Amino acid sequence: MQDTGQDQLYNLKVTKRTVKKLFQYGLLHKKMILLALALLLVAVATEVVGPIIAKRMIDDHVTSIVGKWYYVTDQSEKSVHYNNMLLVREGNMSKEADLSSYESALLEQEGVQFYFTDSSQLKVKLSADQVFEFYKPEIKEIVSLSLLYIGLIAVSAIFVYTQRRLLQTAANRIVQKLRLDVFAHVHRLPVKYFDNLAAGQVVSRVTNDTESIRELYVNVVANFTTGVIYITAIFGGIFVLNPFLGWITLPLIPILIAWVIIYRKYAQRYNRIIRAKLSEINGTINESIQGMTIIQAFRREKQMEEEFGELTGEFFKYQNKMLSLNALTSHNLLNVIRNIFYIVILVLLFTGNFGAGLSIGVLFAYIDYLNRMFNPIVGMVNQLSNMEVALVSAERVFRLLDEEGIDVDTNKMPRYRGDVQFEHVTFAYKDQEYVLKDINIDAKQGETIALVGHTGSGKSSILNLLFRFYDIEQGSIKIDGVDIRQYSKQQIRQHMGIVLQDPFLFTGTIASNISLNNPEISKEQVIQALKDVGAYEMFMQLPNGIDSVVVEKGATLSAGQRQLISFARALAYNPAILILDEATASIDSETEAVIQQALDVLKRGRTTFVIAHRLSTIREANQILVLDRGRIVERGTHDELIARKGKYHLMYQLQSGNTEAITV
Ligand SMILES: Nc1ncnc2c1ncn2[C@@H]1O[C@H](COP(=O)(O)OP(=O)(O)OP(=O)(O)O)[C@@H](O)[C@H]1O
Ligand SMILES: [Mg+2]
Repeated sequence: MQDTGQDQLYNLKVTKRTVKKLFQYGLLHKKMILLALALLLVAVATEVVGPIIAKRMIDDHVTSIVGKWYYVTDQSEKSVHYNNMLLVREGNMSKEADLSSYESALLEQEGVQFYFTDSSQLKVKLSADQVFEFYKPEIKEIVSLSLLYIGLIAVSAIFVYTQRRLLQTAANRIVQKLRLDVFAHVHRLPVKYFDNLAAGQVVSRVTNDTESIRELYVNVVANFTTGVIYITAIFGGIFVLNPFLGWITLPLIPILIAWVIIYRKYAQRYNRIIRAKLSEINGTINESIQGMTIIQAFRREKQMEEEFGELTGEFFKYQNKMLSLNALTSHNLLNVIRNIFYIVILVLLFTGNFGAGLSIGVLFAYIDYLNRMFNPIVGMVNQLSNMEVALVSAERVFRLLDEEGIDVDTNKMPRYRGDVQFEHVTFAYKDQEYVLKDINIDAKQGETIALVGHTGSGKSSILNLLFRFYDIEQGSIKIDGVDIRQYSKQQIRQHMGIVLQDPFLFTGTIASNISLNNPEISKEQVIQALKDVGAYEMFMQLPNGIDSVVVEKGATLSAGQRQLISFARALAYNPAILILDEATASIDSETEAVIQQALDVLKRGRTTFVIAHRLSTIREANQILVLDRGRIVERGTHDELIARKGKYHLMYQLQSGNTEAITV
């Protein structure tokens, strides 16, 4: 019990925070929203006046012919011809007239029949034409009141339309802003964040979740404000009409509030699960498309299908629960409540509880009000599910936005020389699981440092740290003697170039993948970079040369081609520090020789870190660091290490077909 209590408290806190943030976003377009709400107010006012006009029409001009009529002598607008006599009904007699000096007659209604009792007490049934005669003086008023009524409806329609347009526009803008914010924020998040979050799930946040927030601003806000304004105004109207009716209608409010509370209690739980499943589904789809080759190669189609089936099954289950909840609580329950109200009114009416105070006009107006009140209530109740979805989505989006990110720093940094020092660097991706232990490196400008070691020994991790994809907690990394944590990440990366172990290409062209659409990188620089890595001729043989289209991840290029492009990309930026993680792994020996030559030129003036499994490619390195389970176990030049006959020697020997290596 205590647990659920705490849960609810937590939920309340989260909801409060979410609503607050949504409100802050709403404030961005407060003028538009306020204008919309002002229009809404006018529209509501016009609608609330409607039943009052109707009541006047009925009570003053329709049912009013029943009652006392006086014989008059002067013809006027209000007088009626009947049996060659002139009559005016009581309500139309001038205020100053002394009614007792006139002779009177009585018009009565029984069912649909009208009877006229003249001054001599003779009661006759009236024909339809005769009844119409009695209505004639009222027609002008009825017509003008009807016109007013129609006019008000038209005005209110125009206002409602404009208000909705305004709100929708505001909502679209807010959501666009939100989407931009989320997208931008995703780029600010440290690489670490994505270690635990599938790409598809992030996609779900940026697209689906923001979309359901749009619903909130467009429909939920509109319906709820309309609802609250309407209901308040209508209650006002009812109280003006007849306070007693007002009081017996009032319990509707606590019923509604209780309803919202109970609904939310269940809906929130279901919706959280539904949204989480949806994002998992997106994640799975994304992953299986990315891994299509593997799935098909290993014939995992069926299994993937089953896994997906399970996921969608769960999704379906909770959506169904949600559906039952919605079906249970929406329309039909409302109809039940409304009908109960009607019955209560009827019972009160027939048991005489209203006394004489209730005219047909009042009753008509009340029923009209009740109907009008139920419209916004239906609107609000129907929006409850949208509201829930939106709140849960917003919660997810804001949680992402709350993740600590690093502001993009566009400040330029003067080019550093490129002396790199690692001092006692110890690092773990997850706490206590150290993958690097007490690493010390001293690289001078222009030197080439090669990192070798078994797979998983921590080579890429060292470069992750230098690039500040991850930040260290123990030890320090310095460039030109300054701790890299003193600069922003963007600044420090400005003069670094990297070729990652798995090259990534973007949708675009070969050229755009090298310049990354940076205006500072000219076409000439792109071509030069390609020439430097010896790939220009090869790419020029493609039908569109370096403007050939590259699809996402460069699936239509060979692995070696992808690697060459990312190689050229690193060079085009003319970095002071160049990092090559297995840059030549997928390149044939011939191309590799070209690259090696080019590299010798390009390495000049740059500090270069090379990770290579093929030891033949790093023979010329100034320093070779041999890593073993996170420690540097050997260091020196190729010749020194061979002479030492240690780990490096063994590795080299194995790779180059022993005897030769042993004799070196
Ligand atoms: N993002 C990460 N989160 C947690 N652990 C990681 C992460 N990346 C790497 N590791 C772990 O760190 C260790 C070193 O990995 P690293 O990528 O540095 O190896 P490597 O020397 O580059 O290997 P390879 O030659 O196969 O590329 C491995 O045990 C790996 O499991
Ligand atoms: Mg690696």
